Amino acid sequence: MTITQTAIQQLMHDRKSVRKYKEGVVIPHEKLQALLQNAITAPSSSNMQPWRFIVIEDQQVKKELRQISNDQEQVETSSAIIAVLGDLEMYKNAEQIYDANFEQGFMPREVADLMIKNSLGLYGSLPSEKLSSLVHFDAGLISMQIMLLAKDMGYDTVPMGGFDKIKFAERFNLPKNEVPILLIAIGEAAAPAYGSSRLPVEQIVRYI
Ligand SMILES: Cc1cc2nc3c(=O)[nH]c(=O)nc-3n(C[C@H](O)[C@H](O)[C@H](O)COP(=O)(O)O)c2cc1C
Repeated sequence: MTITQTAIQQLMHDRKSVRKYKEGVVIPHEKLQALLQNAITAPSSSNMQPWRFIVIEDQQVKKELRQISNDQEQVETSSAIIAVLGDLEMYKNAEQIYDANFEQGFMPREVADLMIKNSLGLYGSLPSEKLSSLVHFDAGLISMQIMLLAKDMGYDTVPMGGFDKIKFAERFNLPKNEVPILLIAIGEAAAPAYGSSRLPVEQIVRYI
């Protein structure tokens, strides 16, 4: 029996972490911007959208970044590194976000005002470890979208947690409220990814 995969299933199976890239490939900014524009459809806690990005394309800067990323080759050879950051003060945008929800007709004014008040109250009083875990979770959601969208555009990616986050924050002058979370290398594959297995689904699911 032939099983036909839907487009999204195919993409999910085709996405693999690629670590060898064709050097010198430039991804036009319009494409990177379109990728990120689509990626920000990701859901986030209270729609606070805590993700921030630094797109690193400069060859010299990538070379420097490689030195604080366990000397991982793809940091230098890929077309760009999308650094996914989290803003621990994301709740300070609550007003902008919920005003826009009201203006675009998604909720009445009273609901928007309540959401603003609750978001400022709740997130503004959370300890930083809690905020950090929330922001990391949301960054994971958008990172996955970025990698699938990149694949859909004909590019490959590899997510990287293996870098010195303290040195990254220093090198890129991150304000205290921004934490580096993941580097995503993007570019054209020069060699296919290694295969990678998965645990059997029966082993990891419980139905109750
Ligand atoms: C949070 C996170 C951090 C990762 N860090 C690295 C990394 O620093 N270097 C690397 O080569 N791969 C890294 N990977 C890629 C994983 O090794 C890879 O996703 C896993 O082996 C499954 O392979 P696949 O992505 O090809 O399906 C990371 C993946 C995740 C989700």
